[in-house]
Amino acid sequence: MLTLGIESSCDDTAAAVLRDDGCLLSSVLSSQDQIHTRFGGIVPELASRSHLESIVPIVNEALGQASVTLEDIDLIACTQGPGLIGSLLVGFSYAKALSYVTKTPCVGVDHMAGHILSIFLEEDHPDFPFIALVVSGGTSSIYLAESFTSFTLLGRTRDDAAGEAFDKVAKLLGFPYPGGPIISREAQSGNPEAIKFPRSWLEKGSLDFSFSGLKTAVLNHCNTQKQKNNPLVLPDICASFQEAVVDVLVGKTLLAANQQNIQTIVLGGGVSSNPRLRQVMEERCPDDKKKLFIPRPVYCTDNGAMIALAGMHAHRHESDFSFDRDVYCRSLLA
Ligand code: KG4
Repeated sequence: MLTLGIESSCDDTAAAVLRDDGCLLSSVLSSQDQIHTRFGGIVPELASRSHLESIVPIVNEALGQASVTLEDIDLIACTQGPGLIGSLLVGFSYAKALSYVTKTPCVGVDHMAGHILSIFLEEDHPDFPFIALVVSGGTSSIYLAESFTSFTLLGRTRDDAAGEAFDKVAKLLGFPYPGGPIISREAQSGNPEAIKFPRSWLEKGSLDFSFSGLKTAVLNHCNTQKQKNNPLVLPDICASFQEAVVDVLVGKTLLAANQQNIQTIVLGGGVSSNPRLRQVMEERCPDDKKKLFIPRPVYCTDNGAMIALAGMHAHRHESDFSFDRDVYCRSLLA
């Protein structure tokens, strides 16, 4: 059985072909970074227009690289939400049209399920249950994953997502979008203890996140340095900011695992490609007797393969699909 996965929730148009034995036949992606970089962030209208241009060639490329045609596809899986509504509409409408024309079954996938399950694209993957930390530009959430289709939300951000905080801090430091990878590169030569930025732990035992205060603290630091005519030491600011984000992400994920008495932790989402987050998780997990699984960076960021995988499992669980279904902007996994 072959599943075609289509992803268009934000600023990447992606498609992949996955065999039901887990063999990934193709995974292709068209990034819009160059379009949005001069605006310092994603412009939703430009994102949907770009998806419109890319969706057909990207799906054709995924089929071509897998050496299959549409007739060989048994299931079409497509991101239904959450995301930017215009971006979602392009991929989801295209998937519905393909399904209608070719009479191939279709399944709508929650983008968060894709990120939680992307670890199963790797040979070394965990058994259920596990705690999943999903950190991207649009979300920062902790889930208890009990099966391929059963996820319980344990905590989420009350304001900015971690990736959003990286991107906004990068913007105020004068770096182009997307700023996350640039901050982590700059941080390599900086001192993570140079500036004491705040860690927002919220109420005792809370698994929620809040990153907006940290972002303001970076802004205040920059303004104060400028008022004193001191130069901004960018590597130190980046390293200290990154350390504050990583501290909270790691601390709350381990807290969730201990609260739920779960011994396995999985990371997903674009921010989990951050080398410092991966390193601190790897250092801290053995101390807490936790086993850690992190996908390769290519499966941390948005991709079509994780949508194919999540869709394949969702379809086994619930095979009814109505063409009346529409996209949604908030995750259903709550
Ligand atoms: O999962 P993803 O590709 O798309 C969303 O669903 O948002 O994540 C993109 C986010 C961006 O905010 C980007 O800055 C961040 O992930 N990101 C990083 C790194 N690589 C990507 N943040 C910190 N460090 C990185 N190395």
